[in-house]
Amino acid sequence: MKAMKSMKDLFMHELGDLYHAENQLLKTLPRISERVSSEELKSALKEHTEETKEHVHRLEECFKQMGEKTSAHECQAMQGIIAEAEEILAQEEDGELIDAALIGAAQKVEHYEIAGYGTVTEWAKTMGQNEVARILGQTLSEEEKADGLLTKLARGGINQGAIKQ
Ligand SMILES: [Fe+2]
Ligand SMILES: [Fe+2]
Repeated sequence: MKAMKSMKDLFMHELGDLYHAENQLLKTLPRISERVSSEELKSALKEHTEETKEHVHRLEECFKQMGEKTSAHECQAMQGIIAEAEEILAQEEDGELIDAALIGAAQKVEHYEIAGYGTVTEWAKTMGQNEVARILGQTLSEEEKADGLLTKLARGGINQGAIKQ
């Protein structure tokens, strides 16, 4: 990690971390949506994949607004969360059991993103970067919405189905 000397350094580092995380997700989310059985879950994951593309663009816009070149910083946390999701994707089982497992994996992703975007949104506000804060806040609310939808789908029958399997 580059030496941090100011709040802006810290902020740019965190944007680079999120940028790397979102780009990794763009490779994994489509594979998760292909693997699940529930049509509702599949379409929720597909929709969030489209939103994730937009999250990447928004981060690029934030770099621009901050007068910096877009630069990714390897996000080891997201790599770990994705590695665990890969273990589930490699299972031979199908149906609600795998759906329930993948909802859990996807919610770990969302919670990591919620923590990251919550943090950078507050930092942007504190630095008086109101437009950047607004852009990041948009993504934050989509992450929260995605997380809430996953909870609803889990409670709406997928967890029960997994128990019966
Ligand atoms: Fe995202
Ligand atoms: Fe997300």
